[in-house]
Amino acid sequence: ATERTLSIIKPDATRRNLTGKINARFEEAGLRIVAQKRVQLTKAQAEQFYSVHKERSFFGELVAFMISGPVVVQVLEGEGAVARNREIMGATNPANAAPGTIRADFAESVEANSVHGSDSAENAAIEIAYFFAGSEIVG
Ligand code: CMP
Repeated sequence: ATERTLSIIKPDATRRNLTGKINARFEEAGLRIVAQKRVQLTKAQAEQFYSVHKERSFFGELVAFMISGPVVVQVLEGEGAVARNREIMGATNPANAAPGTIRADFAESVEANSVHGSDSAENAAIEIAYFFAGSEIVG
């Protein structure tokens, strides 16, 4: 079925001017960018977005990294978009990411791993609503 997923191009990637190269990966994989904006997250926004991880040892560093520069938040649409995006991103840790994936090719570390993608359709709906009004998504 056609699905939507929330994607974030992280500060390590915007800093290295990789937005276009990463967007090309999505489009070449058949995903359509149906909403997109470049934003500087506040600490409160990053903490809320990643609140599921708040007990993890890396939470403070994760939040600090995510506010270290601009991010591009986007909605990707396509057949099985949640799983498709996870395939093309590759594993969270670029050391484990398959060749040809975004993280294998661009990520610097498990923290500076270039992209975030929703891990389920249920979380995608929550994450999309966190950043976008319905009227900002044009399929
Ligand atoms: P993301 O998909 O955005 O979701 C949570 C993020 O935490 C993850 O990608 C990683 O970039 C980040 N992170 C930082 N350190 C770790 C770690 N040790 N284990 C897992 N995720 C980590």
